[in-house]
Amino acid sequence: MPEKAVNINWYPGHMAKARRLMEEQLKLVDIIIELRDARIPAASANPILKELSRNKPVLIILNKADLSDEAANKRWANQFEHCLIVDSLNENLSKRVVEKVKEILKDKLERAKAKGIRKKVLRAMVVGIPNVGKSTFINNIVRKKVAKAENRPGVTKSLQWIRINEDVELLDTPGVLWPKLENQDDARLLALIGSINDDVLDKEDLVYFALNYLRISYPGVINKRYEVAEDQNDLLEAIARKKLWLLNNNEINREKAVDQLLKDIRSSKIGRISWQDVRE
Ligand code: G4P
Repeated sequence: MPEKAVNINWYPGHMAKARRLMEEQLKLVDIIIELRDARIPAASANPILKELSRNKPVLIILNKADLSDEAANKRWANQFEHCLIVDSLNENLSKRVVEKVKEILKDKLERAKAKGIRKKVLRAMVVGIPNVGKSTFINNIVRKKVAKAENRPGVTKSLQWIRINEDVELLDTPGVLWPKLENQDDARLLALIGSINDDVLDKEDLVYFALNYLRISYPGVINKRYEVAEDQNDLLEAIARKKLWLLNNNEINREKAVDQLLKDIRSSKIGRISWQDVRE
């Protein structure tokens, strides 16, 4: 798990600075490309982006879709006005993103044409919480290595635009905003995918939450990976015994079991899981 990303501490001063910077930058663009983690599309939203975006169109990118449940991805995509489901590591995204941006801004392009502007270049900015994949996504669509996002709140850098193609250009550094930490449920989901430091949470509680969720929402997944019956009272105990994560006195080694299970969950060893579904 990338320590760099999970160890950022957001203080009120940082937040104010990041907010100011983003307000300035957003004035310069026609469209905001907001990255979310496809495994937790609601919890990986930034709490103030909606307010900052004002009337600008927002293209939601459900990133890391290779790690989430395909059917849930589709249900989520239907919730948003503009959305693409992507895997920034393995797909070639330039064309899809450019086409989508042009489609969303079709009216703007037509108005420019009516005013005699023959070639209007559309400007976009990528934003999102730390570790959601902003740098990977930008590198993918511009097909060259650009600077890694400064995961320090509100860091200013001189503005530079990079062309994706003749129609669309992108601010070369993504906007980093803080994750939703105000409620325990969101914090738990962010910790489950390794997006925030789990020091702030009870790790054992996190694992029980995950096992219970898997048992209900993805029956068979735990059994397949750990070969234990899923209808047991204490699944953590059952898995630890099966895997022989034990202490000398034959008690289970809780610390090892918790760490190992969290590692399996975060590396998606248990399969493609969406930890949040749309509300029915
Ligand atoms: P950021 O700029 O938003 O902070 O995120 P960044 O691009 O650095 O990506 C964070 C991690 O997520 C990287 O892993 C990156 O490879 C991974 N990632 C980005 N997009 C995708 C995607 O679509 N699918 C998958 N599976 N992974 C993606 P890393 O630095 O190697 O960290 P880790 O793999 O050790 O956690």
